[in-house]
Amino acid sequence: MHHQALRSLLLASAAFAMLGGSAHAAETIRQWQFAPQGETVELALREVAAPTPARGEVAVRVRAVSLNRRDLMMVAGNYGRGGTQPNGVPLSDGAGEVIAVGADVTRFKVGDRVAGIFFEGWLDGAPTAESLATARGGNAGGMLSEIVVTAAEGLVTIPEHLTFEEAATLPCAGVTAWVSLFKRGRLEAGDFVLLEGTGGVSVFGLQLAAAAGAKPIITSSSDAKLARARELGAFGTVNYRANPDWQREVRALTGGAGVDHVLEGGGQDTLPRALQALAYGGHVAIIGGLSGFATDVPVGTLMGLNATASGIYVGSRADFEALNAFLAAHKIKPVVDKVFELVDAPAAFAAMDSGEFFGKVVIRL
Ligand SMILES: NC(=O)c1ccc[n+]([C@@H]2O[C@H](COP(=O)([O-])OP(=O)(O)OC[C@H]3O[C@@H](n4cnc5c(N)ncnc54)[C@H](OP(=O)(O)O)[C@@H]3O)[C@@H](O)[C@H]2O)c1
Repeated sequence: MHHQALRSLLLASAAFAMLGGSAHAAETIRQWQFAPQGETVELALREVAAPTPARGEVAVRVRAVSLNRRDLMMVAGNYGRGGTQPNGVPLSDGAGEVIAVGADVTRFKVGDRVAGIFFEGWLDGAPTAESLATARGGNAGGMLSEIVVTAAEGLVTIPEHLTFEEAATLPCAGVTAWVSLFKRGRLEAGDFVLLEGTGGVSVFGLQLAAAAGAKPIITSSSDAKLARARELGAFGTVNYRANPDWQREVRALTGGAGVDHVLEGGGQDTLPRALQALAYGGHVAIIGGLSGFATDVPVGTLMGLNATASGIYVGSRADFEALNAFLAAHKIKPVVDKVFELVDAPAAFAAMDSGEFFGKVVIRL
């Protein structure tokens, strides 16, 4: 994140605290909003009228939200198309309780525990331009708000064994890991899986792969984080900072055969190396660019390995429901590493930006 953007965030938080932060009337709610300033985006904590649901809509008292790398990119002003809207509400991911339903809503009732789907309008099947234009916390309103009103169709029931804080981690990172490994990658027990770093998507990938009987191999810049990864079921671990040619060690851990799946979030620095660790017939889920997006398609390598590369952009409501069924069946608990209060949202962004976390960063509302 740009330093200027981070400073703006902290100023916004301080200004709110001076105004007497927590006091608010019952008919108003608190929410953070984007306040674009030149090339970057400030966050402002504002009191707004409590929204009420219209026909087909539901009001959710949001109890927890989680951050993704995308949210930092938005505040830095470099998310591009689908980025921040003036006065828009940040964050795609949140979970809470239904507190009111509009006319004709049969999907939910008051008291139901729910999470928003990432794309409010992508329910099933292949996406369309229209459904991809409904990403929460970007084109569509986000979840960093005490109450969110949304289409009833754009919510899923959360698994019973999860707290709101745990469920708030699922919509982006959880669904992306699920789609990458199971829907597109068709992961099977015994497969080797490469996970890059110990951020949100990778740690979900680790937990899902381990639960499915696959052999997850995870990289990190930190030995302490790798120790945590082993406790979660990592088959192999490699410190990519201590071993710049980490892909060799990854391949060695597979007995030389290579990995069957890569959750490729590192981008231009990691994709060429990950391909060197890929098995014949392997699958690379192209999801991100932590080091900058890779722009060259490695045609020769993919052909030579008879491999598949898939571009993945989170997933649909049906994918989220499939993830939830798997989490419930295996009693998997997402890793919530740090939890912040609503007024401290800027500190949550700063924690995410620091890289000093494992799994997910959450804000409680
Ligand atoms: N396409 C999609 O639908 C989709 C969905 C979600 C996320 N993404 C993208 O996927 C990527 C990961 O997202 P996230 O939310 O999981 O990120 P995150 O939680 O912020 O992950 C940060 C961690 O990634 C690791 N990392 C950073 N640079 C790295 C590098 N060059 N090589 C290896 N590891 C590196 C570090 O792990 P250590 O501290 O262990 O070193 C860092 O702590 C991002 O590019 C994000 O934009 C895409």
